Amino acid sequence: MRKTHTAGALRATDEGRSVILAGWVHRRRDFGGLIFIDLRDRYGLTQITLDPQRVPADVFAVAESLRPEYVIEVEGVVHLRPEKMRNPRLATGDVEILATRVLVHNAAKVPPFPIDSDGSDVDETLRLKYRYLDLRRERMARNLTLRHRLIKHMRDYMDGNGFIEVETPILFKSTPEGAREYLVPSRVHPGDFYALPQSPQQLKQLLMVGGIERYFQIARCFRDEDQRADRQPEFTQLDVEMSFVDRDDVMGLIERMLIQFATEQADLHGKKLLYTPFRRLTFAEAMGKYGSDKPDLRFGMEIFDVSAVTRNSSFAVFAAAETVRGIVAPGCGGYTRKQTDELTELAKREGAKGLVVLYHDADGVRASGAGAKLSEAERAAILAAAGSAPGDLLLFVADAETPALTALGKLRLEMGARLKLADPSTLAFAWVIDFPMFTWDKDESRWVPNHHLFTAPRDEDLEKFESNPGEVKGKQYDLVCNGYEAGGGSIRIHRRDVQERVMRLLGLSMEEAYKKFGHMLDAFEYGAPPHGGIAPGVDRLAMLFAGEPNLREVIAFPKNQQAADNMLGIPSAPTAKQLKELSVRVDL
Ligand code: AMO
Repeated sequence: MRKTHTAGALRATDEGRSVILAGWVHRRRDFGGLIFIDLRDRYGLTQITLDPQRVPADVFAVAESLRPEYVIEVEGVVHLRPEKMRNPRLATGDVEILATRVLVHNAAKVPPFPIDSDGSDVDETLRLKYRYLDLRRERMARNLTLRHRLIKHMRDYMDGNGFIEVETPILFKSTPEGAREYLVPSRVHPGDFYALPQSPQQLKQLLMVGGIERYFQIARCFRDEDQRADRQPEFTQLDVEMSFVDRDDVMGLIERMLIQFATEQADLHGKKLLYTPFRRLTFAEAMGKYGSDKPDLRFGMEIFDVSAVTRNSSFAVFAAAETVRGIVAPGCGGYTRKQTDELTELAKREGAKGLVVLYHDADGVRASGAGAKLSEAERAAILAAAGSAPGDLLLFVADAETPALTALGKLRLEMGARLKLADPSTLAFAWVIDFPMFTWDKDESRWVPNHHLFTAPRDEDLEKFESNPGEVKGKQYDLVCNGYEAGGGSIRIHRRDVQERVMRLLGLSMEEAYKKFGHMLDAFEYGAPPHGGIAPGVDRLAMLFAGEPNLREVIAFPKNQQAADNMLGIPSAPTAKQLKELSVRVDL
């Protein structure tokens, strides 16, 4: 090693020690003839002091030439800083190194953005283009360390619970998990392609048939989806599968793992878990109260139902609607027309026909526009259902159930954010259970699985399968946190006949099903144990624990919103020779 200590290591007790440090010039300050250099590495900062009276002129001259981001090696002796020069905010703030030798390993151009800020003021495109510089910043080092700790905790925890990590191939076959896939042309088999796995779902089930019983993998997954803050085209899951278990076994395993992580790693992120044990909601409750299957439970503002009151309303919009639901925005009674119009636009974007706005005044309900038609009795009943107080704003959507709830769910998040109702230092983990197994896809006129087609139906619902698919609930469970889906899993089908019934219901011919999933159907006939699993998203968990607004902040080299990497310049065109070898022609 060319250094004896990191830049975060030295304390007052090291006084008098001869040391060698190496790293980057964070800042250089010239001060009354003295030169102070903050030397930085991933572990911290240490002040190097050069006194022209005490170092040879050539060493001082080197120090004078230093600029930010030069890579240096410094030899010197640890001294206590004079009392009034100590810096309690810095771990090494009690000491300084009086340098006797300074070596420049490499000079550096002026970086395109300052390294000594948290980066929030720097354009993200620039940050990603020079990611290797961005990674030098404390925020990124902290996030990557947190991610490392999370993954290490997962591995240790799973190992401690009798799981083994098994790698599964990246060159795989199309998996039916809803997203578009990345294809890889085969040179050896012209015209044939591999697909990158959307997840190791099928292979982990086959590992159960293979008797592995407790499997996990820190697994890379690939999905060609539209990018969002919480989506990356390649991402990482803690992929888990277990044999001879029920839903509660899988949920309990993951819940204990996360509680343990949050408790033991408190120093890294300072995030508090809001609910231990985690809350559990059925899908119907989550939608009914929060208008989302991944509710943010850090605040209330629950959706209420006034359909019973408004069924015979003199206000036609209310009377005609399948359902009327609302939320209370506390203290927002002063909203202007312009502000409520904005909220109406938001509701419409979410598929609602409109928004009815009422104001809770000192003397009851004040309605603007069409809402003025409400009778006194109705107004009183609405206030009772809302549980609002004078000064509050009441927002209603009168529509079919799904658009009404979804729109109010979005409005709830919007108002929660405006009113800062969610405590950013808390994580509200919860389980959502009892999902409908299938949803009707209007565009394609067919049933589609809510999770994936390997999820088992609840035993008691097996009978309704063909007669009433919309009523069938699956043995699916989602881990949600602060409005994000942090993981999803289910108990699986392990019998060929049930699997074939699901495939038929989804409109797959048996011929097609066998072509795509013959390996699964065959395997189920050779003694497949009952099994189930889950896949918490590693990137999403790291983002939540780090308190970051998007996944890119917890991934060393992420793709941008266009699924590109401008540092590497990808995706990029292959050469004509490569295409020829792969028997692929590009037709733009
Ligand atoms: P699912 O598709 O629900 O389930 O994915 C599981 C978890 O993976 C994370 N995730 C993502 N993270 C970042 N970017 C993405 N594009 C992305 N897509 C998903 C989420 C999500 O909850 N095989 C099943 C799991 C199982 O049934 O065991 C599966 O992949 O955190």
